[in-house]
Amino acid sequence: TLPESCDFTVFGGTGDLALRKLLPALYHRDLEGQLPGDARILGVSRSVLDDEGWREEVRTALTTHVAPDDLDTETVDRFLGRLRHLMLDAEQPDHWHRFHALLKDRPRAEQTVRVFYLAVAPSLFGAISRRLDEIGVVDERARVVLEKPIGHDLASAQAVNDAVGHVFDESQIFRIDHYLGKESVQNLLVTRFANAFLEPLWNSRWVDHVQITVAESLGVGDRGGYYDHAGAMRDMVQNHLLQLLCLVAMEPPSHVGRETVRDEKLKVLQALKPMTPADVDRDTVRGRYSAGLVDGAPVASYVDDLGRSAQHAGSSRTETFVALRTEVQNWRWAGVPFYLRTGKRMDRRASEIIVVFKAPPHHMFPNSEGVTEPNRLHIQVQPDEGMRLHLTAKEPGPGGIRLRPVSLDLSYATTFEQRLPDAYERLLMDVIKGNPTLFMRRDEVEAAWTWVEPILTRWATSPDQPLRYPAGTSGPIAATTLLERDGRSWQESDQ
Ligand code: BG6
Repeated sequence: TLPESCDFTVFGGTGDLALRKLLPALYHRDLEGQLPGDARILGVSRSVLDDEGWREEVRTALTTHVAPDDLDTETVDRFLGRLRHLMLDAEQPDHWHRFHALLKDRPRAEQTVRVFYLAVAPSLFGAISRRLDEIGVVDERARVVLEKPIGHDLASAQAVNDAVGHVFDESQIFRIDHYLGKESVQNLLVTRFANAFLEPLWNSRWVDHVQITVAESLGVGDRGGYYDHAGAMRDMVQNHLLQLLCLVAMEPPSHVGRETVRDEKLKVLQALKPMTPADVDRDTVRGRYSAGLVDGAPVASYVDDLGRSAQHAGSSRTETFVALRTEVQNWRWAGVPFYLRTGKRMDRRASEIIVVFKAPPHHMFPNSEGVTEPNRLHIQVQPDEGMRLHLTAKEPGPGGIRLRPVSLDLSYATTFEQRLPDAYERLLMDVIKGNPTLFMRRDEVEAAWTWVEPILTRWATSPDQPLRYPAGTSGPIAATTLLERDGRSWQESDQ
């Protein structure tokens, strides 16, 4: 339920995430009249800015990231009026006292739901939580939002979870994975569990394999400082791709409840086939982009991109691409490969899940072998959200039966004819309302790290460098071989 009053604090209020995603998302919800009337949005950062200075930054951000049709002057003014900025150096106790004073300086301060969104480095999560506790602003209504990555490996994730958990109860901790807020991702649950015809086929008897791709055409941009310490495995696979895998593979929960869905996702993570060093060598591919062409325009290599933001670009071994093969070791999925891949500077921006079904058990149409393609359910997460079911049909004509691959298409744009809200809009409202269903629980995050860690360890001790792929391609050849070895191939979205 929507609280009557709310103070939404963004630590890292002048950062890229805040300006590009969080504030535009809150603006859109304000436009729809969904923010509590007296809600305030407090930006905390090290920038020397007063309220007006931050409002100007946010105004510019809204102009850039909100569609012109949605920029309503009255709402923009109301929204900017909610904004306050506080310059805070975390090491200065009196700055924290000022923050305390700011939170208390409002009507009904004691009944206000306080959200603390930590859009800062994970190494600060524990320290900020402790300070918030010390200044006495964490009551049972308070909520803290943690941006990924939660830690760098299992031990550091546990340390972060311990430190934050010392101050906040698990029910008050919202670990965000914005992929769970995407409309097409939420629709996965509905497609699977609100329809009868898929579920009987959704298992190793009928599914040949599953492919999950999150391809980006962008490079690391100005985020090299962060990215070079993370790499694609920590930045994308440990969270977004594994979450997508969970939604594809999970058992039906009894209902959509705050724990039921997460319980089922956790079971999938725990059932992932553990990777031995030999498995890592055989079943994972890591790559890194070299210079190339994206949409016809020349772009720099990863190392050159990094040169702008990091000092040790020359010795970096960070991967910008990962492909891997895994299995979910349970009754439903035994023996079904799940192929995951993600990369920066690929030939297109496309996130998709493709479930490839087995061939019919018997070929009754003469000459049909080799002509028919396997049935596939293609879920387009973004862009052009939609779903496509690939079938075989008879080609019209009197001259006997000729088979042809066809597809049934669902496009969100033409079916729903409405703007799809950004993932953060849904998730930030869930935080304000106190609904954690679409957020990662501590055990999920730690189970994901447990599975990922042996891969990272093996890579770290291997003398091999990531394989090079030219920017604007679909990644290293080895990613293609990974499937060809199994007699399969990546299904590109236009097929
Ligand atoms: C973020 C990663 O979590 O997700 C980025 O840190 C990545 O590296 C981004 O670009 C992708 O999100 P989206 O919503 O654009 O697919």
